Amino acid sequence: MTTTRILAGQVLHFDSTPFAGDPLSAARVDSAGGLLIRDGRILATGPAAELRAAHPGAELIDHGQALLVPGFVDAHAHYPQTAMIASWGKRLIDWLNLYTFPEEMRFADPAYAGAIAARYFDLTAAHGTTTICSFCTIHPASVDAFFTEARARGQRVVAGKTCMDRNAPEGLRDTAQSAYDDSKALLQRWHGVDRLSYAITPRFSPTSTPDQLDAMGALWAEHPDCLMQTHLSEQTDEIAWVADLFPEARDYLDTYEAHGLLGGRGLYGHAIHLEPRERDRLREVGAGLVHCPTSNTFIGSGLFDLDGLMAQGQRIGLATDTGGGSSFSMLRTMAAAYEIAQLRGRALHPAELLWLATAGSAEALHMGDRIGRLAPGYEADVTVLNLASTPAIAQRAERAEDIWEAVFPTIMMGDDRAIEAVWIGGARAV
Ligand code: GUN
Ligand code: ZN
Repeated sequence: MTTTRILAGQVLHFDSTPFAGDPLSAARVDSAGGLLIRDGRILATGPAAELRAAHPGAELIDHGQALLVPGFVDAHAHYPQTAMIASWGKRLIDWLNLYTFPEEMRFADPAYAGAIAARYFDLTAAHGTTTICSFCTIHPASVDAFFTEARARGQRVVAGKTCMDRNAPEGLRDTAQSAYDDSKALLQRWHGVDRLSYAITPRFSPTSTPDQLDAMGALWAEHPDCLMQTHLSEQTDEIAWVADLFPEARDYLDTYEAHGLLGGRGLYGHAIHLEPRERDRLREVGAGLVHCPTSNTFIGSGLFDLDGLMAQGQRIGLATDTGGGSSFSMLRTMAAAYEIAQLRGRALHPAELLWLATAGSAEALHMGDRIGRLAPGYEADVTVLNLASTPAIAQRAERAEDIWEAVFPTIMMGDDRAIEAVWIGGARAV
């Protein structure tokens, strides 16, 4: 039997993007709001009392003073790095070689991949994240494990087999042909099944030969409705290495562009140290840039130019970059985005931070018409925030004069204790 439910509480709505003008006219909170949900979708929104009067048979779940926000959307993560998150003391290239690659080797065992996928979805749901765009490992079974687990939980996710045919250890390399064949088979198996989407996933230029980049570009041309995800201009040492490996390239982005890997459905993680030409080209094609603030501070990468890139009209999502990022929490990720923007001279409004973690990331994934907002027709992925989850947060929120001042301490100091409930596709997950 189909259950019709009303979720009641304070409800966050975005009428437009808070970066386009005054955040206060783009976002509003309905203090006695409600969401009418059925069959995994939001049917109606409005004052809870009105929804109850119009739908007396609906089951009421009253979340009281908690804030209902769209389920968090993590636009760039590496689920295989779950067990080695917070590994000490290295910058990108050494961090990959010392910690990341040995851990990713373990995914040759499908049982290990399945166990980590389950652990990863448990952890992310507990932190209020309902959609993830993840890299897997070179092993096709790591992709099967991720999609199988997401499907069982009814989650909307994006993932792909990470492709690497050089500068990675034996056992963690494919070839141009096998990367093409395996990616294609996985894409055909999973893309568009339930809430699952496939992303073509060359790790980054240093670990792919030009032949492999060509093969990935060819696969994307055959399946232009797929997303393509990779890394771009994260650290200066990495950029110098790319220049050595691709002497003919105009810049880092050109190593993708020359092989058919620049496009509007491309997602470029980090994108910190961009040249003017790269910024212009990314903007022209409408590519997605993914800001990974806890990773950028943890691995020492640099300060993403959120404000400048937004002003240019770039499409930007927010992400944990687990496990280069040091947290599974999108609250902690918003806090780090706030801190990085402060270091660049700009204070992000809480509505901007929440938008980045929900609608903004959804738009970066080209899913802004189905997730990332609490509006009729949208999928019922909802995270319920307790705005007084610890004594430290509660005493600060108590002083607040409006909802934005009340939610900001949770953004800055909150963790999984702030997640009161999570609804995924209309079903209670946490
Ligand atoms: N660049 C290439 N691979 C990775 C990765 O796994 N994490 C991060 N942060 N950067 C990368
Ligand atoms: Zn990454």
